[in-house]
Amino acid sequence: MKVAVIYNLESQAVINHFGRPCQEQYSQETINDIKNSLAKGGHQVFAFEGDKHIIEKLEHFMTPAISGQISGMVFNLCYGIQGKGRYMHIPGVLEMMGIPYVGSAPDTHALAMNKVVTKIIIEKKGLPTPKFTVMERSDSDMRADMQYPLIVKPKDETSSLGLRKVTNEAQLRKGVKAIFDAFTTQTLVEEYIDGREINVGLLGNNPVVALPPVELLFKEDPRIFTFEDKYNISGRKVDKICPALLSKDETVKIQQLAIDTYNAVGCLDFARVDIRLDKEGNPYVLEINSMPGLNRDSSLVIAAKNKGLDFTAFINRLVEVAHERYIDQVITLSDD
Ligand SMILES: Nc1ncnc2c1ncn2[C@@H]1O[C@H](COP(=O)(O)OP(=O)(O)O)[C@@H](O)[C@H]1O
Ligand SMILES: [Mg+2]
Repeated sequence: MKVAVIYNLESQAVINHFGRPCQEQYSQETINDIKNSLAKGGHQVFAFEGDKHIIEKLEHFMTPAISGQISGMVFNLCYGIQGKGRYMHIPGVLEMMGIPYVGSAPDTHALAMNKVVTKIIIEKKGLPTPKFTVMERSDSDMRADMQYPLIVKPKDETSSLGLRKVTNEAQLRKGVKAIFDAFTTQTLVEEYIDGREINVGLLGNNPVVALPPVELLFKEDPRIFTFEDKYNISGRKVDKICPALLSKDETVKIQQLAIDTYNAVGCLDFARVDIRLDKEGNPYVLEINSMPGLNRDSSLVIAAKNKGLDFTAFINRLVEVAHERYIDQVITLSDD
């Protein structure tokens, strides 16, 4: 099949630069790894930047399908170029053009990017997440029943940007101000869950499968997965253990929590749920990542490997699960 890998690396080709530039990207190495894996899987691969030129490039690469067939797929690695809706831009254009793609749809990216909305949805489903409030400004009222230490984070950022642990009201208000100044956004204030950190990778649709949990091992303070850790500039190594040392019952419970979270926000094909366990072992969902890391030392890839899917097999499996999903849709549509 024709598979177009679309990513954001260097191109800034938009009509105007407007809104906050995107801070995230999949590395060139990961993009090459994915391209090579897809080629090994027998696909005809074409790769290009997700900018304003994608429509003409896709039209050229994927000639329109005969009714009821798929002319090709996109492997979407676009975090976007700019703006608050950046994860949604490429899936939105693909949806409009009728091009199948691997990964979640724009509506889900919108929900998952907003940690407050995610927490409201999962709380409504009865799933555990740290107690929280939202502060618009540093002088906003504070929910009275929250216990320090607290975590402050921008409600719609990623990579631990702007996140800090605070132990008193002065630090809290300073953190809220810093977040507003840097990101012009509201602050999610959460109780700090003092305990282990677990990532659960998810793969597939109806039913989605939870991969073996991965534990992040912090050997020293801060016991927080920081921006610097994520980009390997912290000077420390946070080891990832898979499967996490959990009992069978704990594993099943945490995997079910991850599955319920995935379904609650309507993810497709793959995602990763970040969870903390308190000292008694009770799990709390921190967030769901609708565009999880796919480099070789990311939790999702480690978990897939533990399940018997090496990198090449995992990447090709993602295309398969997305393809199966579209085949179902095409059959439904042509039956109408
Ligand atoms: N409520 C919390 N309690 C304990 N640690 C937290 C909490 N919220 C975030 N963290 C730490 O900060 C990291 C990043 O937070 P997260 O909510 O996953 O946002 P993102 O990864 O999108 O920046 C987590 O991996 C965890 O180490
Ligand atoms: Mg996270």
